[in-house]
Amino acid sequence: MTELRASGLRLAYDNRVVVEDLDLLVPPGRISVIVGANACGKSTLLRALARLLTPRAGVVHLDGKSVHAMPTRQVAKQLGILPQSPVAPEGLTVIDLVARGRSPHQSWWRQWSATDEAAVAAALAATEMTDLADRPVDELSGGQRQRAWIAMAVAQETPVLLLDEPTTFLDLAHQIDVLDLVVDLNRGEGRTIVMVLHDLNQACRYADHVIAMKAGRIVAEGTPSSVVTPALVSDVFDVRCQVTPDPVSGTPLVIPTGRHHALTERETQHSR
Ligand SMILES: Nc1ncnc2c1ncn2[C@@H]1O[C@H](COP(=O)(O)OP(=O)(O)OP(=O)(O)O)[C@@H](O)[C@H]1O
Ligand SMILES: [Mg+2]
Repeated sequence: MTELRASGLRLAYDNRVVVEDLDLLVPPGRISVIVGANACGKSTLLRALARLLTPRAGVVHLDGKSVHAMPTRQVAKQLGILPQSPVAPEGLTVIDLVARGRSPHQSWWRQWSATDEAAVAAALAATEMTDLADRPVDELSGGQRQRAWIAMAVAQETPVLLLDEPTTFLDLAHQIDVLDLVVDLNRGEGRTIVMVLHDLNQACRYADHVIAMKAGRIVAEGTPSSVVTPALVSDVFDVRCQVTPDPVSGTPLVIPTGRHHALTERETQHSR
């Protein structure tokens, strides 16, 4: 199983350091979910893991080899990424976008094949994009577009898949579909998944391993129930909350208090 590991990472834009001294071993064959406030460095970390950003210090190892020393195609065969705000070339159709996911598998001696065709068809079907295959990506709704990009990452058929907020723009049904698809890819094909999610309850349901980030550092990681506690939510998001078992999955369910909705003591007794 492919092992993805980061050691001593320092990530920066110009002179501004965003991630400092970060170590991470992504559990192989599991689903890891990164959570944290806006601008804490989640996307920056994911981009560095995918070799899209060169670290100022430290190294990312894919099966013991530094990704920044590996040829692009070799990385792309092992690791796929759905960036946070991907932009498709103007007029590119969904099927052509998804077909691009197959390019790491091609070369001058291995052209487009039945395997590629099948992978594209399967990815379109899994994301319910088959009927939209011939539409230009830039004419789709936000949710349809997001699913087209997910289809591309799925078609790449990499053992490691990094997804930056894959459920953004999706209605509730499609959020669940995408997250269930991620579980299928993980359980059925043993793929290692790392995704960024903002919905803590979905994170707890779908993650084997939760990674909580704050200001460019990992402040806690482990099973959802060991990480997602009122104290952690308060520390990372500055939000008061109650945490109770999710009635469907038994995983932590975070119920934020907010300023306007806390029951008074009398109401609490009343509702018992
Ligand atoms: N291309 C860039 N150039 C300069 N600064 C950047 C760039 N991308 C991100 N940053 C900065 O780096 C910091 C971390 O950004 P990052 O996108 O990693 O946050 P994030 O945790 O993914 O946030 P969000 O939840 O909003 O997606 C932010 O302060 C952001 O302004
Ligand atoms: Mg982000």
